[in-house]
Amino acid sequence: MADVILRLHIAGKAFGTRKVLGAIDLALGAREIVAIVGPSGCGKTTLLRIAGGLERDFNGSLEWPHGRTPRIGTVFQEPRLLPWRTVRENLRLAQETPDDALADNLLDTLGLLQFADAYPGTLSLGMARRAAIARAFAVSPELVLLDEPFVSLDADMAAHSRDLVLTAWRARPTAMLLVTHDRAEAESMADRILELGDEPARIVAEIRVQAPRG
Ligand SMILES: Nc1ncnc2c1ncn2[C@@H]1O[C@H](COP(=O)(O)OP(=O)(O)OP(=O)(O)O)[C@@H](O)[C@H]1O
Ligand SMILES: [Mg+2]
Repeated sequence: MADVILRLHIAGKAFGTRKVLGAIDLALGAREIVAIVGPSGCGKTTLLRIAGGLERDFNGSLEWPHGRTPRIGTVFQEPRLLPWRTVRENLRLAQETPDDALADNLLDTLGLLQFADAYPGTLSLGMARRAAIARAFAVSPELVLLDEPFVSLDADMAAHSRDLVLTAWRARPTAMLLVTHDRAEAESMADRILELGDEPARIVAEIRVQAPRG
Protein backbone atom coordinates (compact mmCIF):
# COMPACT_ATOMS: atom_id res chain seq x y z
CA MET A 1 0.00 0.00 0.00
CA ALA A 2 1.41 3.35 -1.06
CA ASP A 3 0.79 5.68 1.85
CA VAL A 4 -0.08 3.98 5.13
CA ILE A 5 -1.40 6.23 7.89
CA LEU A 6 -1.96 3.60 10.55
CA ARG A 7 -0.41 0.24 11.27
CA LEU A 8 -2.06 -1.77 14.02
CA HIS A 9 -1.04 -5.10 15.44
CA ILE A 10 -3.25 -6.53 18.15
CA ALA A 11 -2.06 -9.70 19.85
CA GLY A 12 -5.05 -9.62 22.18
CA LYS A 13 -7.42 -7.39 24.12
CA ALA A 14 -9.23 -8.41 27.28
CA PHE A 15 -11.63 -6.70 29.66
CA GLY A 16 -10.73 -8.29 32.98
CA THR A 17 -10.57 -12.00 32.36
CA ARG A 18 -12.70 -11.84 29.24
CA LYS A 19 -10.76 -11.95 25.99
CA VAL A 20 -12.62 -9.80 23.50
CA LEU A 21 -10.15 -9.47 20.63
CA GLY A 22 -7.68 -12.06 19.36
CA ALA A 23 -4.91 -11.44 16.85
CA ILE A 24 -5.84 -8.66 14.42
CA ASP A 25 -3.55 -6.82 11.99
CA LEU A 26 -4.63 -3.74 10.11
CA ALA A 27 -2.81 -1.30 7.84
CA LEU A 28 -4.90 1.62 6.64
CA GLY A 29 -4.13 3.69 3.55
CA ALA A 30 -4.19 7.47 3.78
CA ARG A 31 -7.23 7.70 1.50
CA GLU A 32 -8.74 4.32 2.19
CA ILE A 33 -12.20 3.65 3.60
CA VAL A 34 -12.37 0.41 5.54
CA ALA A 35 -15.63 -0.90 6.96
CA ILE A 36 -15.71 -3.17 10.00
CA VAL A 37 -18.73 -5.46 10.20
CA GLY A 38 -19.68 -8.24 12.59
CA PRO A 39 -22.28 -9.34 15.11
CA SER A 40 -23.31 -7.17 18.04
CA GLY A 41 -20.93 -7.36 20.96
CA CYS A 42 -18.10 -8.94 18.97
CA GLY A 43 -15.68 -6.08 19.57
CA LYS A 44 -16.11 -3.59 16.68
CA THR A 45 -16.21 -0.48 18.88
CA THR A 46 -13.28 -1.80 20.91
CA LEU A 47 -11.25 -2.27 17.72
CA LEU A 48 -12.16 1.24 16.51
CA ARG A 49 -11.13 2.79 19.82
CA ILE A 50 -7.80 0.96 19.78
CA ALA A 51 -7.15 1.97 16.16
CA GLY A 52 -7.81 5.63 17.04
CA GLY A 53 -5.50 5.54 20.06
CA LEU A 54 -8.47 6.09 22.42
CA GLU A 55 -7.98 2.71 24.10
CA ARG A 56 -4.34 2.02 24.91
CA ASP A 57 -4.78 -0.98 27.16
CA PHE A 58 -4.16 -3.90 24.78
CA ASN A 59 -1.39 -6.29 23.82
CA GLY A 60 0.22 -5.24 20.60
CA SER A 61 1.31 -2.05 18.90
CA LEU A 62 -0.18 0.95 17.14
CA GLU A 63 2.11 2.85 14.79
CA TRP A 64 1.58 6.05 12.88
CA PRO A 65 4.09 5.79 10.01
CA HIS A 66 3.90 9.57 9.49
CA GLY A 67 5.66 9.86 12.83
CA ARG A 68 2.95 11.60 14.82
CA THR A 69 -0.64 11.06 15.84
CA PRO A 70 -2.85 12.14 12.95
CA ARG A 71 -5.69 14.60 13.41
CA ILE A 72 -8.72 12.45 14.05
CA GLY A 73 -12.40 13.26 13.50
CA THR A 74 -14.90 10.99 15.22
CA VAL A 75 -18.60 10.32 14.80
CA PHE A 76 -20.04 8.08 17.47
CA GLN A 77 -23.37 6.35 17.60
CA GLU A 78 -24.67 9.23 19.71
CA PRO A 79 -24.07 12.70 18.22
CA ARG A 80 -22.47 13.96 21.49
CA LEU A 81 -22.76 17.66 20.70
CA LEU A 82 -22.24 20.14 23.52
CA PRO A 83 -25.84 21.18 24.30
CA TRP A 84 -24.98 24.66 25.59
CA ARG A 85 -23.08 25.62 22.43
CA THR A 86 -24.54 26.40 19.03
CA VAL A 87 -23.93 24.12 16.07
CA ARG A 88 -21.26 26.47 14.69
CA GLU A 89 -19.58 26.73 18.11
CA ASN A 90 -19.52 22.94 18.36
CA LEU A 91 -17.48 22.84 15.15
CA ARG A 92 -15.19 25.70 16.20
CA LEU A 93 -14.44 24.16 19.58
CA ALA A 94 -13.30 20.94 17.91
CA GLN A 95 -10.83 22.79 15.70
CA GLU A 96 -7.21 23.13 16.78
CA THR A 97 -6.89 26.21 14.59
CA PRO A 98 -10.16 28.11 14.09
CA ASP A 99 -11.27 27.96 10.48
CA ASP A 100 -14.70 29.54 10.10
CA ALA A 101 -14.64 29.22 6.32
CA LEU A 102 -14.16 25.45 6.55
CA ALA A 103 -16.78 25.14 9.29
CA ASP A 104 -19.38 27.07 7.31
CA ASN A 105 -18.49 25.25 4.11
CA LEU A 106 -19.13 21.93 5.88
CA LEU A 107 -22.37 23.16 7.42
CA ASP A 108 -23.45 24.21 3.94
CA THR A 109 -22.49 20.82 2.46
CA LEU A 110 -24.47 19.08 5.18
CA GLY A 111 -27.50 21.31 4.76
CA LEU A 112 -27.12 22.94 8.18
CA LEU A 113 -25.95 26.46 7.45
CA GLN A 114 -29.29 27.97 8.40
CA PHE A 115 -29.06 26.14 11.75
CA ALA A 116 -25.49 27.23 12.51
CA ASP A 117 -26.69 29.38 15.41
CA ALA A 118 -29.19 26.84 16.71
CA TYR A 119 -28.59 24.83 19.88
CA PRO A 120 -28.34 21.05 19.56
CA GLY A 121 -31.44 20.52 21.71
CA THR A 122 -33.56 22.13 18.99
CA LEU A 123 -32.31 19.79 16.24
CA SER A 124 -33.87 16.54 15.08
CA LEU A 125 -31.76 13.41 15.48
CA GLY A 126 -30.96 13.43 11.76
CA MET A 127 -29.77 17.05 11.96
CA ALA A 128 -27.72 16.35 15.08
CA ARG A 129 -26.10 13.42 13.28
CA ARG A 130 -25.24 15.66 10.36
CA ALA A 131 -23.81 18.26 12.74
CA ALA A 132 -21.63 15.54 14.29
CA ILE A 133 -20.43 14.56 10.81
CA ALA A 134 -19.63 18.20 10.03
CA ARG A 135 -17.70 18.48 13.29
CA ALA A 136 -15.64 15.38 12.47
CA PHE A 137 -14.57 16.89 9.15
CA ALA A 138 -14.09 20.39 10.63
CA VAL A 139 -10.83 19.35 12.31
CA SER A 140 -9.22 18.79 8.86
CA PRO A 141 -8.88 15.15 9.85
CA GLU A 142 -6.35 12.73 8.45
CA LEU A 143 -8.32 9.85 9.97
CA VAL A 144 -12.10 9.71 10.44
CA LEU A 145 -13.64 7.17 12.82
CA LEU A 146 -17.33 6.46 12.39
CA ASP A 147 -19.10 4.11 14.82
CA GLU A 148 -22.55 3.19 13.52
CA PRO A 149 -23.19 6.81 12.54
CA PHE A 150 -26.47 6.21 10.74
CA VAL A 151 -28.37 3.94 13.12
CA SER A 152 -31.87 4.96 14.19
CA LEU A 153 -32.21 7.25 11.18
CA ASP A 154 -35.01 6.36 8.80
CA ALA A 155 -33.91 4.74 5.55
CA ASP A 156 -34.06 7.93 3.48
CA MET A 157 -32.18 10.00 6.02
CA ALA A 158 -29.57 7.26 6.45
CA ALA A 159 -29.03 7.12 2.68
CA HIS A 160 -28.83 10.90 2.51
CA SER A 161 -26.36 11.03 5.40
CA ARG A 162 -24.17 8.39 3.74
CA ASP A 163 -24.06 10.53 0.61
CA LEU A 164 -23.11 13.55 2.69
CA VAL A 165 -20.24 11.71 4.37
CA LEU A 166 -18.97 10.67 0.95
CA THR A 167 -19.37 14.23 -0.33
CA ALA A 168 -17.29 15.53 2.58
CA TRP A 169 -14.77 12.74 2.03
CA ARG A 170 -14.48 13.44 -1.71
CA ALA A 171 -13.84 17.13 -1.01
CA ARG A 172 -10.99 16.17 1.36
CA PRO A 173 -10.15 12.46 1.16
CA THR A 174 -8.92 10.94 4.42
CA ALA A 175 -8.42 7.52 5.88
CA MET A 176 -11.70 6.29 7.30
CA LEU A 177 -12.78 3.44 9.55
CA LEU A 178 -16.51 2.80 9.52
CA VAL A 179 -18.14 0.42 11.98
CA THR A 180 -21.52 -0.83 10.84
CA HIS A 181 -23.96 -3.73 11.22
CA ASP A 182 -25.15 -3.08 7.71
CA ARG A 183 -23.46 -5.04 4.96
CA ALA A 184 -25.04 -2.99 2.16
CA GLU A 185 -23.84 0.20 3.82
CA ALA A 186 -20.31 -1.22 4.01
CA GLU A 187 -20.41 -2.20 0.35
CA SER A 188 -21.68 1.21 -0.75
CA MET A 189 -19.00 3.16 1.10
CA ALA A 190 -15.83 1.15 1.62
CA ASP A 191 -12.83 0.06 -0.43
CA ARG A 192 -12.41 -2.91 1.86
CA ILE A 193 -14.62 -4.73 4.35
CA LEU A 194 -13.26 -6.54 7.38
CA GLU A 195 -15.63 -9.03 8.91
CA LEU A 196 -15.05 -9.72 12.59
CA GLY A 197 -16.18 -12.99 14.10
CA ASP A 198 -15.31 -15.69 16.61
CA GLU A 199 -14.49 -15.26 20.28
CA PRO A 200 -12.10 -13.68 20.88
CA ALA A 201 -12.77 -11.75 17.68
CA ARG A 202 -10.50 -11.97 14.68
CA ILE A 203 -10.88 -11.03 11.02
CA VAL A 204 -12.82 -13.96 9.56
CA ALA A 205 -13.14 -12.45 6.08
CA GLU A 206 -11.64 -9.57 4.15
CA ILE A 207 -13.53 -8.39 1.09
CA ARG A 208 -12.17 -5.93 -1.44
CA VAL A 209 -15.07 -3.99 -2.93
CA GLN A 210 -15.06 -3.95 -6.73
CA ALA A 211 -15.78 -0.46 -8.08
CA PRO A 212 -16.16 1.16 -4.64
CA ARG A 213 -18.68 3.99 -4.24
CA GLY A 214 -20.33 3.30 -7.56
N1 LIG B 1 -15.29 -0.83 29.05
C1 LIG B 1 -15.65 -2.12 29.03
N2 LIG B 1 -15.56 -2.90 30.12
C2 LIG B 1 -15.89 -4.20 30.10
N3 LIG B 1 -16.34 -4.85 29.01
C3 LIG B 1 -16.45 -4.14 27.88
C4 LIG B 1 -16.13 -2.74 27.82
N4 LIG B 1 -16.34 -2.30 26.57
C5 LIG B 1 -16.79 -3.36 25.87
N5 LIG B 1 -16.85 -4.46 26.66
C6 LIG B 1 -17.26 -5.80 26.23
O1 LIG B 1 -16.49 -6.15 25.10
C7 LIG B 1 -17.30 -6.79 24.13
C8 LIG B 1 -17.19 -6.05 22.82
O2 LIG B 1 -17.79 -4.79 22.96
P1 LIG B 1 -17.89 -3.76 21.76
O3 LIG B 1 -18.60 -2.58 22.27
O4 LIG B 1 -16.53 -3.56 21.19
O5 LIG B 1 -18.77 -4.60 20.73
P2 LIG B 1 -19.46 -4.12 19.37
O6 LIG B 1 -19.10 -5.11 18.33
O7 LIG B 1 -19.13 -2.70 19.13
O8 LIG B 1 -21.00 -4.26 19.71
P3 LIG B 1 -22.27 -3.46 19.09
O9 LIG B 1 -22.41 -3.94 17.69
O10 LIG B 1 -23.41 -3.88 19.95
O11 LIG B 1 -21.96 -1.99 19.20
C9 LIG B 1 -18.70 -6.82 24.69
O12 LIG B 1 -18.92 -8.09 25.23
C10 LIG B 1 -18.69 -5.80 25.79
O13 LIG B 1 -19.54 -6.19 26.83
MG1 LIG C 1 -20.27 -0.97 19.07
